[in-house]
Amino acid sequence: MKPVIDILEDRISVAMAAATGRSDCAAIVRPSTDPKFGDYQANGVMALAKKMKTAPRQLAEEVVKNLDVDDICQPPEIAGPGFINLRLKADFIANSLLEINSDLSSRLGVDKAAVPKTIVVDFSCPNIAKPMHVGHLRSTIIGDCICRMLEFLGHKVRRQNHIGDWGTQFGMLVAFMERRAAEALEGRVVGVIPSTLAEFEAFYKEAKQLFDTDENFAARSRAAVVGLHSGDQTWIGRWKLLVAQSVKHYQEMYDRLNVTLKPEHVRGESEYRDELPGVVEDLQRRGLGKESDGAVCVFPEGFKNKEGEPLPFMIQKSDGAYLYATTDLAAIRYRINELKADKIIYVTDARQKLHFEMLFASARMAKWVSDDIELSHVMFGSVLGEDGAPLKTRSGENVKLKELLDEAVERARAVVEEKNPDLDQDKKTEIAKAVGIGAVKYADYSNNRTSDYIFSFDKMLAMDGNTAPYMQYAYARIKSIERKAEEKNIKIEKELRAITDLSLTEPAELDLAKTLSRYGEAIRAAAADYRPNYLTAYLYELAQKFSGFYTNCPVLDAGPDKRPTRLLLCDLTAKTIKHGLSELLGIEVVEQM
Ligand code: ARG
Repeated sequence: MKPVIDILEDRISVAMAAATGRSDCAAIVRPSTDPKFGDYQANGVMALAKKMKTAPRQLAEEVVKNLDVDDICQPPEIAGPGFINLRLKADFIANSLLEINSDLSSRLGVDKAAVPKTIVVDFSCPNIAKPMHVGHLRSTIIGDCICRMLEFLGHKVRRQNHIGDWGTQFGMLVAFMERRAAEALEGRVVGVIPSTLAEFEAFYKEAKQLFDTDENFAARSRAAVVGLHSGDQTWIGRWKLLVAQSVKHYQEMYDRLNVTLKPEHVRGESEYRDELPGVVEDLQRRGLGKESDGAVCVFPEGFKNKEGEPLPFMIQKSDGAYLYATTDLAAIRYRINELKADKIIYVTDARQKLHFEMLFASARMAKWVSDDIELSHVMFGSVLGEDGAPLKTRSGENVKLKELLDEAVERARAVVEEKNPDLDQDKKTEIAKAVGIGAVKYADYSNNRTSDYIFSFDKMLAMDGNTAPYMQYAYARIKSIERKAEEKNIKIEKELRAITDLSLTEPAELDLAKTLSRYGEAIRAAAADYRPNYLTAYLYELAQKFSGFYTNCPVLDAGPDKRPTRLLLCDLTAKTIKHGLSELLGIEVVEQM
């Protein structure tokens, strides 16, 4: 089904061309912000009038004279300096819903992209053996939603978990493993390799402390770095064990978060280690890699420091070591040459903004990335505690993801106990899990990703407002209507299959129906800007429209002229909420709450 916004864009652009004889006409149709102005608004006339140096209102009138949208809209209205306001006809909406209803592909009327792209999404990317903190949570879930949306729109998505699994700190870690093993043989410790994330963190801390205080151990760590870099099999073997173990634990976290990342998506920094000398040489050969105080740097165009001097993007230190930037340059080449990316998206916090700007500029200057390939840094703000400072535990440490999720589920359980004490234990556990994890994810998604937000269990678990429990409840409520229908022997499926036309006479019905028909538009907008909050805002609006409808329009007690239409509105609302939550946001729905 072609989104109505596209049909209107086409038709109005054609009318603009007919009215002016020009070929540079863009209607710029947007959803109206206020229902007073109809459902959509075309804003393009003003810009065109400016270019033509004519009066915009007059031009708008000419355009409307040439415009044929009779099958879709009521007569267009001109407002203000030359906006064209459009209000959809009930018939048109009804037909859209009928089409969605008869579509057996469960795509809810959403078309795939005409030209599918290969899109690499770089997200999650924790650093092995260091604590995985809430910043990684954001990257993981925002990246996951982007992947899910793009895939649903028909693109080929290549997930890349660019984990931090290489660097000098690994010398210290494998040396510490060696020491632990020796201690284990003497019976002084049990377990050489950490086996939970908490143990990993303790392991890292202990190793670091020893490294800072024990000269012998520090020397052994440096020897291990040399061993790792020269491919010494003993050291490499130990390092591999450590990485494998920690990847296993990230995977547990991904599964718990219902995120689509799998072990096969891991392609860590270490995979590029043999490419790094070549990256530097290639850039030097192109005259881009320049010596600067013994180091090698690229000076991408347009980047200046405070003093107005060219800003360096360092790719090799004076001691010969390579950097985060070098690895990212190697990764870009791989993604374009081997993965055949048309687009590469990086999901990290906003503090890495400059890194990615300089990375993209350098890669383009090196001609590794042609102009038609899009590189995007999808950045996000910090998660703050209730005090407005970055989220920390009471003792001032980074909040651990596992503990955060445990607490969310525990609190959700309390909500369930209170609301629905008679449910059996297994059901309560299932609901608490869906609500608790869902609440943490949804709260993150529903915030504008570029701003910081305050993490509040109370807010995210509230039953009203734009929260997961509210959305999950909206779904469960429709499911309970369906269960009641069954009790009354109403055959919903049969009624829905038999529908040939709809009766959208009540304003609340029409309102809900319009919102339902705009699902594809919402997904496309969210995917185009990589902003999950457009999707949550849509779902929230849908749930509210449903609530307005359900308060005003009886469903099961409606007469035969109305019941099929209303059942269809219930059915499509439930399907849309379920699809949005579970397929695109990875948040489970429950049949009762
Ligand atoms: N490991 C990095 C960090 O924790 C994030 C990596 C993001 N991806 C990339 N290609 N640089 O900050």
